[in-house]
Amino acid sequence: METMTPDVLVAVDEIIERHRETPGPSIPMLQALQETFGYVAPEFLQRIAAATGIPASDLFSIVTFYAQFRLEPLGRHHIQVCHGTACHLAGAERITEALEYATGTKCGCTSDDREFTIEKVACVGCCSLAPVVSVDEEVHGRLTSDDVSALVKELRKQGSEMTP
Ligand code: FES
Repeated sequence: METMTPDVLVAVDEIIERHRETPGPSIPMLQALQETFGYVAPEFLQRIAAATGIPASDLFSIVTFYAQFRLEPLGRHHIQVCHGTACHLAGAERITEALEYATGTKCGCTSDDREFTIEKVACVGCCSLAPVVSVDEEVHGRLTSDDVSALVKELRKQGSEMTP
């Protein structure tokens, strides 16, 4: 299991120990794992189950029920497409399709090259700029399909410039 390096194991076990005595420990443990690693690997669930006796299936249900948890690491670029009312009316669906086409991945997934994760989010609070996309926490507004294609192209270019 590549995910569970010795360092990761130590960190996971520390989190389990820290929350073991908390009433209803599952969610605090999972939140701490998500905060530390950016995702909750299936192996983490097995580790919690073995240490606490909480069934791994219960933990899996929690992780898949709450949108705050993800089971895979994010891609290098985290793209969030706002689907709040203003953005929806301004063409969020069209923007999502353009992003899916440009990155080669579906909304809710990470591209095979692990460059991009696309997610649908609720209002990000910049409605006057609709339609809005946040890329690595930076908000881009009043976008067209051509803009998002150019944005993805630019991100790819930055990535290849950084690769030795
Ligand atoms: S609806 Fe998209 S920023 Fe508010």
